[in-house]
Amino acid sequence: MEFATRSIHAAQPAEGGTGALVAPIFQTSTFEQQAPGIHQGFDYSRTNNPTRARLEAVLAELEGTAHAAVFASGLAAVNAVLQAYLKPGDGIVVPLDVYGGTYRILTRVFGPAGCVVHQVDLSDGDAVARVLTPRTRLVWIESPTNPRLLVYDIAALSRAAHAAGALVVVDNTFATPVFQQPFGLGADLVVHSVTKYLAGHSDLIQGAVLARETDVFEPVKFLQNATGAVPSPFDCWLTLRGLQTLELRVERHAANAEAIAAALERHPLVRRVYFPGLPAHPGHEIARRQMTGFGGMVSFELDGTVEDVVPFVSSRRFFTLGESLGSVKSLVCHPARMTHASIPAAEREALGLSDTLIRLSPGCEHHRDLVTDLTEGLDAVGAGRRKETIVV
Ligand SMILES: Cc1ncc(COP(=O)(O)O)c(C=O)c1O
Repeated sequence: MEFATRSIHAAQPAEGGTGALVAPIFQTSTFEQQAPGIHQGFDYSRTNNPTRARLEAVLAELEGTAHAAVFASGLAAVNAVLQAYLKPGDGIVVPLDVYGGTYRILTRVFGPAGCVVHQVDLSDGDAVARVLTPRTRLVWIESPTNPRLLVYDIAALSRAAHAAGALVVVDNTFATPVFQQPFGLGADLVVHSVTKYLAGHSDLIQGAVLARETDVFEPVKFLQNATGAVPSPFDCWLTLRGLQTLELRVERHAANAEAIAAALERHPLVRRVYFPGLPAHPGHEIARRQMTGFGGMVSFELDGTVEDVVPFVSSRRFFTLGESLGSVKSLVCHPARMTHASIPAAEREALGLSDTLIRLSPGCEHHRDLVTDLTEGLDAVGAGRRKETIVV
């Protein structure tokens, strides 16, 4: 079955009993038992819930496995993997540009508890090899990354990690299972901020962990119930609805991103465009190999100052200024003042995060409206600058 067909049909039969084409929302905390411990597979909704179970089955189908557990947020999903696999003295390897929330929980929660965090340039195989030891439990990959959309070689990193006895986790939030299937590339675990493309409509917070093997999944599944960070049946139902259009949406996101990247490249006020689909992007060749599309995100550096960026990002017609990504509605973000503001300026510079870097999450609007909105904004920056020159 092709991906689009799977996202509509797999694990989604009509509801037994009523024949309802759309599964009901099982908004219940508990379930009647026939005798103590005798029930129909559900006893308490923190442990298991039919709406959540259906979502987990669909997500598993889309990532090409049999094991999925959903959580109340992407970070709760990240936490479950870390808690399951990192014990005091264990090591984890993460990319330099790992998602800020993952960096925070590692350095503020797991680091102080005795775990050793190695932040490494994952495109440098020697640097990765230098930090891999018998105590390394996890190699954590994001690809493409935030906000420069760097791409790392999941298959090569998996080989190196496995040779050292470590498990490989891929945060597949930016790529989605439509464009990237990490289990086929060697990953042992996949995490998602479902909040983004999977749910797709900026109306909920949710996360997921998937595993290829039963024994790797079990500790995560245990923590889902034991720590209790589960999403509501209603939020699971919303995600089930969103997933049916996942491929349609991300194909439109990606086509819009491509049109925007091309237009930005041509604009004189744009110093640099980050989009894995551009041949000049450092991860372009790997992306071509390991992805079936280049994703829906674009970032660029404005050739100007922070003072130019603020009015540009604050006054777009179709790009709402806000954190998050992957929604049908376009979003724009200024990492230096928003998502990455807590990183000291010198560190940001070392990471290549310029103060005039702007991150775009094109939605599903028409690409001409989005491109016009952006070029009008850039032209306005240029016009403002010319006026200043005349006044001086
Ligand atoms: C790559 C990535 N992973 C994990 C998360 C955390 O997800 P959530 O915000 O749903 O907790 C985010 C959130 O932005 C993210 O971008």
